[in-house]
This record gives sequence, C-alpha cells and structure tokens, in this order.
Amino acid sequence: MEIREELLRRTEEIERIIYAYLPAEEGYQKTIMEAMNYSVKAGGKRLRPMLMLETYRLFGGKSKVIEPFMAAIEMIHTYSLVHDDLPAMDNDEYRRGKKTTHAVYGEAIGILAGDALLNYAYETAALAFEMEPGHAGVGRALAVLARKSGIYGMVGGQTVDVESEGRPDMTKEKLDFIYRLKTGALIEASMLIGAILAGATKNEQRVIEESAASIGLAFQIRDDLLDVTGTQEILGKPVGSDERNHKNTYVTFEGTEQAKRDVAERSERAAACLNSLVVKNEFLTELIRYLISREK
Ligand code: IPE
Ligand code: IPE
Ligand code: MG
Ligand code: MG
Ligand code: MG
Repeated sequence: MEIREELLRRTEEIERIIYAYLPAEEGYQKTIMEAMNYSVKAGGKRLRPMLMLETYRLFGGKSKVIEPFMAAIEMIHTYSLVHDDLPAMDNDEYRRGKKTTHAVYGEAIGILAGDALLNYAYETAALAFEMEPGHAGVGRALAVLARKSGIYGMVGGQTVDVESEGRPDMTKEKLDFIYRLKTGALIEASMLIGAILAGATKNEQRVIEESAASIGLAFQIRDDLLDVTGTQEILGKPVGSDERNHKNTYVTFEGTEQAKRDVAERSERAAACLNSLVVKNEFLTELIRYLISREK
C-alpha cells in the first residue's frame, strides 16, 4: 500500500482512539471543553501518537494500556500549539486549517484551553493505572511524559526560543538546544513511552530516545523550511511566521540547501539507529523517511 493511503488509514484509527478520551461538553464550564475539543479535533498529522503506537508495536506491545498515553501526548502537543499561537507568543491566526483557538474563543479562553489540555492529559494518562494496575511501566511512562513536557523539555525549549527572537548572538549549539527541547522532547517522550510500555530493555530505550531526538531535530528543521517554502493552504497555518517574529531558525542560520541536507542526514541517522535493533517495524522506518520531504 502507498504510504499516503496507509497514513490516512492509520490517522483515522488514531483519531478514533484519541476522541474517545476527550471530555464531554457539559456543565457551567462547558466553554472550556468546547475549546479543548475544537483545538484537538481541528486536525493535525497525529504524528506523536503514531510514533508512540508504532514504537509500542515495534517491541511487541499489544494491549490497550498505550491508548490513554496516545491521547495524553496529543493533548499536550495541542496545548503547546494553542499557547504557541497566542498573541504574546507567535501571534498566529490559523492552525490546522482553522482559526486558532484564541481567535475563536478569545485570549483568556485560549490560555485556559491550553492549561486544561495540559492538565487533562495527566488525568487521562493516569487512567492507565486502573486499566492495568500491575503494569510496571505505567509510572515510569507518566514520569517521562511529565519531564519531557516541562522545563527540561518542551517548555524549556519554548522559553529559549522566545528569548532568542531578534537576537544577533545565536549559535548552532543554542539553536540545537532549542530544537531538541521545544520539538524533540515530545517526540522523544512519544517513542520512549511506547518502548517502556511494551517492556523494552534499558538499552533499547536508549536507542529509541536517540532515534527520536534525531527525528525531532529533522522535523523542526523541515517545519522551518516549510515556513519559508510552503503554502498556508497545504500547511493549514500561516507561512512567514518566523520572519515576522524575527526568529533565528536553521534556514536563517545556515541557508535552505544546508537545512535540507540536515533534515535528510538526521532522518537517516534516526533510521540507522532503529535498524541497529533486533526488532523491526518497517512502517516506522518508512514514516521517518517520508517525513524528510513532507509538505505539511
Ligand atoms: C507543529 O507540529 C509544531 C512543531 C513542533 C513543528 P506538527 O507539524 O506535528 O503539527 P500538527 O499536529 O500536524 O498540527
Ligand atoms: C513550536 O515551533 C514548537 C512547539 C513546541 C509548539 P513553531 O512555532 O515553529 O511551530 P509552528 O510552526 O507554529 O507550528
Ligand atoms: Mg513558536
Ligand atoms: Mg509557531
Ligand atoms: Mg514553525
């Protein structure tokens, strides 16, 4: 089957799982549930839950214990986008082909919807304890989710990202730090949680984390390229956002052609990492290579 068709089929399967964990829109506070569901259901590639599920499958995982974690990572990722788009941050009006959450519900509800998604992610992931009380990996998976989302992960990366806007003193080392944290960390969490819940060894977990770090870096560099060369119609979000915000990116730092080479090189490194394992998941490797030339 062609990878695009396969992706469509798998994305639908993932959305069915995620949607089942979204909150009911009810009560005096129902606006917040509506805003949460609006932002999650707007669309998106569902890459993080997909990487989580495929890594889980790679190590022979078969139970439903992965599902609340798939929903949780997509909630955290979506919250990061809702806040990233706020006027105080990147100030973008479109996301996933729709108006951004703050543009529809106002800034206050936009902020609260992000907070709510972040918190609900942990409420959701914690359901895994009830599903499989004896599962030794659930506690550790929860710890990974928390750490990679916070000050040593995504939030830390976003902090340095906004602080670096318009500054002339960017270095390659700092740029890599930002990318590893703001984007890499949630991808590392996705794959690491898949590995942990499937019972991968410590050494296998190390290989997975390293592969995920490379995927994350490649993914963000490709995102920067698309901000310059893409179209809003296909991307579902505005192009030129980085230039407008005076961001230092891989594209401004080393140019389009080198950035493209970096995406390919990092992706091949990620694939090689996976290839060093005894276990195999052909779709996962194919997915990593597909992402090199993604248009959205
Ligand atoms: C966008 O992530 C933010 C980045 C880390 C580059 P995605 O490109 O995965 O966004 P969706 O989930 O498909 O909308
Ligand atoms: C943000 O990077 C990554 C996040 C942690 C949200 P960008 O600001 O480049 O993401 P987009 O381009 O708005 O999706
Ligand atoms: Mg940003
Ligand atoms: Mg942005
Ligand atoms: Mg971007």
